[in-house]
Amino acid sequence: MNRIKTLNEYSESYAKSIQNRDAFWSEIAHSFQWRKPWSSVCEGSMEAGSYSWFNAGELNITENLLDKHLTEKGNQVALIWEPNEPSVDFRKFTYNELHNEVCLVAEMLRSMGVRKGDRVCIYMSMVPELVFSVLACARIGAVHSVIFGGFSAKSIADRVDDAEADFVITMDGGLRGNKTIPLKAVVDEALTSTRKIKNVLVYNYLNLPTEKKEIDVDWNELKARVLSNNDYIKPGETMQSEDPLFILYTSGSTGKPKGVVHSTAGYMVWTAYTFLNVFQYQEGDIHFCTADIGWITGHSYLIYGPLLNGSTSLMFEGIPTFPDAGRFWDIVAKHKVSIFYTAPTAIRSLMSAGDEFLEGKNLTSLRILGSVGEPINEEAWNWYNEKIGKGHCPIVDTFWQTETGGIMISSLAGVTPSKPVFATLPLPGVQPVLLNEQGQEILENETTGNLCFAQPWPGMIRTTYGDHARCVMNYFSAYPGYYFTGDGAYRDSNGMYRLTGRVDDVLNVSGHRIGTAEVENAINHTPGVIESAVVGYPHDIKGQGIFAFVICDPHHHLEDHEQIQAITKTVSEQIGAIAKPDKIVLVSGLPKTRSGKIMRRILRKIAEGEFDAIGDTTTLLDPSVVQEIMAKAK
Ligand code: WTA
Repeated sequence: MNRIKTLNEYSESYAKSIQNRDAFWSEIAHSFQWRKPWSSVCEGSMEAGSYSWFNAGELNITENLLDKHLTEKGNQVALIWEPNEPSVDFRKFTYNELHNEVCLVAEMLRSMGVRKGDRVCIYMSMVPELVFSVLACARIGAVHSVIFGGFSAKSIADRVDDAEADFVITMDGGLRGNKTIPLKAVVDEALTSTRKIKNVLVYNYLNLPTEKKEIDVDWNELKARVLSNNDYIKPGETMQSEDPLFILYTSGSTGKPKGVVHSTAGYMVWTAYTFLNVFQYQEGDIHFCTADIGWITGHSYLIYGPLLNGSTSLMFEGIPTFPDAGRFWDIVAKHKVSIFYTAPTAIRSLMSAGDEFLEGKNLTSLRILGSVGEPINEEAWNWYNEKIGKGHCPIVDTFWQTETGGIMISSLAGVTPSKPVFATLPLPGVQPVLLNEQGQEILENETTGNLCFAQPWPGMIRTTYGDHARCVMNYFSAYPGYYFTGDGAYRDSNGMYRLTGRVDDVLNVSGHRIGTAEVENAINHTPGVIESAVVGYPHDIKGQGIFAFVICDPHHHLEDHEQIQAITKTVSEQIGAIAKPDKIVLVSGLPKTRSGKIMRRILRKIAEGEFDAIGDTTTLLDPSVVQEIMAKAK
């Protein structure tokens, strides 16, 4: 696969990808290893919300990210693991070693009876065994569904049931900063209310006391057994291009998270191509993506994209502020990181911690910086550019989604023009359009609209697990003939895009997507709660904060602060700590129209503190509630 090296090459590739899409992708796909070539490049329709890529092709993705590199790069480091505690030794795995580990875990899974097509939920913290587990699933054709370690037992249970999973992989506990997370205990609790699971594979990491259930399989014992057979290095399962590779749950505007399904060949081509070009990967680069593997960024740019390119990928177990806010920079200096990819929330929080944490840190190895997950504000962009990149590292502001599989709009580092706070131009193969509320394409520049994509791309969502109608409904029906992102965007006079935020009821808190309906559902489970409405408001560090307006039963005798505590606890139990509201006010009514619809516009203004901008309230059923809510929210 050739890297785009000049602006001219970008323009040529872009033009070809639109005018002659199939020929364009066919050429790129030829650089991968196939067991059997594809018969057609792309088929399907936007109306049906369904596309297939590289039809009838056969391959195994792990052979493309491991076996393929063994002859030339077997001894090159594939994965560096930096522990939570700086005093603990880091671990590293060459391509040979990673291949060995993945084959070993693959054989462990096979011996447990995991077969091609089976769904395996993985609930682990950021340890190398998580990477082995993900790739072991891909090796044997099982569909992995990683659940972020911050989700609650209830969230795990929902995902296990929705994915119809038969197996779970977990560990006794994980470390994040100075916290120990009892992962196995959370899984145990989750599985008390789910479908019947065949086995739980448990990796013992911290020697925490855990309950041993009948269905539990001990990682180390099984590993020893498989190792003693000495016959575990096996080829990957033959997969069809469109066989599902993984499911990853993400929030939408309805209450229930959706299982976004990605398939094998298209995702492979897309993550490899976007990684190479956006980050301008070169031999010898050390790529540090700070995202957790529980999110799509970790899937695409910590595991698949870098390894498919034969890069060295660095994974970090801990958090940016432990033991102090200089930790990322220590890691960069220690491992000579050249590409650093993080989220604006992390940048803002490190910026606010103070520049003393940068003192004496050697950041000269850095070549390229990236941002992902939410719009980056100008102040954070400037700090990142000046203090981290020292003004000479191109910053790629990469716009994409769980559903897009990989980066859609971004500059190619140092190759295409960059502009602060703009994601800039589409990648080859991506055709962004702005639509107005009537669904008409807005052709002029210097305008905002709803961001859609007019052409399919290899890494696009294939379906939402078990419910294709929901996929069509969510992404392909708002604007027939287009994929709708749910985001608004501005296009400048040069055709560059700046993302302006979600236009649906989805919040972006610290770069994590959370549906307002999901949080409301959770709040409504609290005893004493009658109704709630959740909106976002600008938050200095998190980007958006969660503001909840809650009506409680006056006969439920709790003090206000106790009721608020109970609500917070319920949200943590139902979803996880990441969805805890930042502010909760108890009110006696919500602003509703005469037909009973909550006027969120008004609540948003109140949450933003813009009491003067509330506008006309005369159409409300009871305009006086607004005064009460304002008084309480002050
Ligand atoms: C937002 C994360 C502005 C957007 C990869 C999108 C961004 C949602 C950017 C997807 C960016 C992501 N600038 N906003 N560079 N990148 N977003 O699925 O609202 O966790 O729809 O994928 O994050 O979040 P998700």
